Amino acid sequence: MSQIQKVAVIGAGTMGNGIAQVFAQHGHSVTLVEVKQEFLDRGLAAIEKSLGRLQKKEILTADQAQEILGRVQPTTEIGDVAPVDLVIEAIVERRDVKRDLFAKLDELTGADTILASNTSSISLTDIAAATKRSDRVIGMHFFNPVPVMKLVEVIRGQDTSEATTDAIVEKAKALGKVPVPANDFPGFVSNRVLMPLINEAMFALMEGVATKEGIDEIMKLGMGHPMGPIALADFIGLDVCLAIMEVLQRELGDPKYRPCPLLRRYVAAGHLGRKTGRGFYDYSG
Ligand code: CAA
Repeated sequence: MSQIQKVAVIGAGTMGNGIAQVFAQHGHSVTLVEVKQEFLDRGLAAIEKSLGRLQKKEILTADQAQEILGRVQPTTEIGDVAPVDLVIEAIVERRDVKRDLFAKLDELTGADTILASNTSSISLTDIAAATKRSDRVIGMHFFNPVPVMKLVEVIRGQDTSEATTDAIVEKAKALGKVPVPANDFPGFVSNRVLMPLINEAMFALMEGVATKEGIDEIMKLGMGHPMGPIALADFIGLDVCLAIMEVLQRELGDPKYRPCPLLRRYVAAGHLGRKTGRGFYDYSG
């Protein structure tokens, strides 16, 4: 399999802009694709802010930060992915939307291009079946904040080839990350384990076992978690948490995966966590 040089990231949201940044920091030219210019502007501003932290810590000079930013080419034209070796999709967590996108990417990119998804729970086998290259479709699951978190969960679909897996494992290592393989089951490992914990914390809150602050403090101080589960849900995005719980519930069929009604209510109200300024906590300040 040819070397991965040129990369495209589809989606400039929290995960997409972080992924684009990490590739650009490691010398890759990155085509960053979004449906609207304002989403690109927001994504680029987030990358600039994150690089600013590294400048403050004198890990990067201002010139280096500019050079990294310069490697990210924003575009609203999906056809610009044509010449890349690797596409990483980081769009909305919806099966139908992802399948449509992968079918399009299959037509737009060269036969050797690897199509990766940053999905947090949707079946890679299912996404791959929308293409004619299921051996070159794989999960490359990053964690938020992408520039900080070391893990890349590498998910092999039913037909993902060894060569594709090896190429992604090697690339993740070259980015300074630690790739860990997982097989294609609902939620993989990360969200099969994390999301029921978060969901249970919400049930505990709903039942008045403790306040949200109390629940978070207990899990931070007692379990050594860097963030409590309620704060972490806000950080991930409550819509994303709900989408993942719905995948676990639907695909595994066990009632223990039913999403907490409180989670549903926050999502229905549009309080999606940090990204909307309000979730279980208030971030407007
Ligand atoms: N870009 C660059 N650097 C960043 C950053 C960003 N976006 N965000 C934080 N940092 C850096 C800070 O500069 C700081 O660096 P130093 O230690 O060198 O000073 C370091 O990260 C820690 O940040 P802070 O001091 O600001 O705050 P903190 O100590 O509270 O850590 C945190 C923040 C790293 C987010 C920490 O709270 C944490 O690890 N939280 C848990 C995050 C987590 O679980 N993420 C996974 C979510 S699940 C997911 O993403 C996938 C899914 O499928 C749902």
